[in-house]
Order: sequence, then structure tokens, then C-alpha cells
Amino acid sequence: MKIASGFVQERIKRGPAAEDHKKDFLDVLLDFQGSGKNEPPQISDKDLNIIILEIFMAGSETTSSTVEWALTELLRHPECMAKVKAELGRVVGANGKLEENHIDDLQYLQAVVKETFRLHPPIPFLVPRKAVRDTNFMGYHIPKNTQLFVNVWAIGREAELWEEPSSFKPERFLDLNHIDYKGQHFELIPFGAGRRMCAGVPLAHRMVHLVLGSLVYHFDWQLDSSITLETMDMRENLAMVMRKLEPLKALPKKKI
Ligand code: HEM
Repeated sequence: MKIASGFVQERIKRGPAAEDHKKDFLDVLLDFQGSGKNEPPQISDKDLNIIILEIFMAGSETTSSTVEWALTELLRHPECMAKVKAELGRVVGANGKLEENHIDDLQYLQAVVKETFRLHPPIPFLVPRKAVRDTNFMGYHIPKNTQLFVNVWAIGREAELWEEPSSFKPERFLDLNHIDYKGQHFELIPFGAGRRMCAGVPLAHRMVHLVLGSLVYHFDWQLDSSITLETMDMRENLAMVMRKLEPLKALPKKKI
């Protein structure tokens, strides 16, 4: 909470953004809150700090861990890494810069991201639900007040849904490219579904593709000399987010 209120205080001290400066989320929230001089604030200071903290927590580790898992899988599957590189070369050109408007044309990169979400959903049980009344769901009786966890991790590895469910095969999503993670296709719901699904999907979608794509586009990656493809540690550690137990150790070899 201290960190969040630090961001807010710093921004208040700086004062309103200059006319030509694009407002960010915090500027807009502070505008909405009002100066508090003539009328009561629309959001209390406490609520404003909580919103900033929540967005910060919900948006940072989820995204960074997805990029780490994706890069790990690409290093384990050099043939997939080569396909991503080739596609980036085709779409972005030789000495370019990956931009948001390239993402739609990067079908294989999109497939890599979906496959990463299928195998390594950052929030594997989503946010817990509670049954508000006695419910019968698909033949199961769920008594009122039961706490429910949706096991997205297991759905992603369900053999009835996916061919070779444990294998990292982005190609499957080139054939199944109608499946996305916007909450309509229940076989792939890393952001949840329904009214409480992730509020940050559009931002997360852009960030993951831009960061992962830029890392692959600008650098050749190599595993730390102590690690081989066979000895790569793929164990998971479930805390706030399901990260790699052993952080990926990879070296950028050269800049293109
Ligand atoms: C790879 C990135 C991300 C993943 C996988 C992810 C996943 C999720 C999941 C599973 C939920 C709970 C949904 C449910 O239980 O149905 C959630 C909620 C939420 N996420 Fe994300 N998220 C990501 C990035 C972000 C970003 C970048 C932001 C904002 C900057 C964000 C903001 C939120 C908020 C505010 C909620 C709570 C929504 C509510 O309760 O109404 N997330 N996210």
C-alpha cells in the first residue's frame, strides 16, 4: 500500500499533466477524483490507492511470468523459435521495430502466446467464486456458500480437449485460430470469463506480444552454459502467480 500511495503522492506533487502530454491512467483517476476544494472527492484517497495497488499487482507479475514461460518454451523448442523469428523478419522487416499494429499479422507469435497460456496460465485457479445459492451444475450438487475454484491449468491439459496435451505445439492454434482467450471459449480461459473476468485483457494482449516479440526480434537467445535443453527446470511455483520455480537463465547473444 505504501508503494501505491508513493506513486500517487509523487504525481500530485508534480501537478496536472502538461497540455501536450498524453494522460495516463493515474492522471485520469486524479482528474476524476477532483481537487476536493469545492466538492467532496469522487473517490477517497484510500480507494484511489487501492485501485492503483490492484492494477499494479494484477498487471505486472501475470504479464512478466507469461513472457518468461513463453521464452522458456521457445528455447526448449528451437524449431518454434526459428518460426517466430522468420515471421517477425517477414512482418517487421530487417531493421525495424515491432509495433502494436504488427500484432494482427503475427499469426505464429499469437499461436505461441495462446499455447503458453494453455500450459502455463498465470492464475491457474482463477479468483475463487462462492455459490450464492444451492446449485445444480452439470449433475453436481453445489451447496450454498461453497467456495469454488476453476482449475484452468487442468482444463489446458485435458486430453479430451487437446491432442498431445502436455506438448508445446503452437501449430495447433493455427488450425484452431478461432479460439481466443477473451472468455468465450471455455477450453482456454487464462483471463477467466464472465462479469469478473480480467479487466486488463486488451493491455495484457498487447504487452505480452510486444515484449515477447521484441525480445525474440532483437536478440538471439542462448541458455546459460550450466543448462541444456534436457536439464531445463520446468517446475512451477504457485504463489500469487504461477511462476517458474527456477527463474529462466538465458543470455542475449547478439543484437540484430
Ligand atoms: C498475462 C496477463 C494477465 C492474466 C493472465 C490475467 C488474468 C486474470 C484473471 C484470471 C483474473 C480473474 C478473473 C476471473 O476469476 O474470472 C484477473 C482479474 C483482473 N485483472 Fe488480470 N490478468 C493479466 C493482466 C492484467 C493487466 C495488465 C491488468 C491491468 C493493468 C489486469 C487487471 C485485472 C483486474 C483489475 C482484475 C479484477 C477484475 C474484477 O475482479 O472485476 N490484469 N486477471
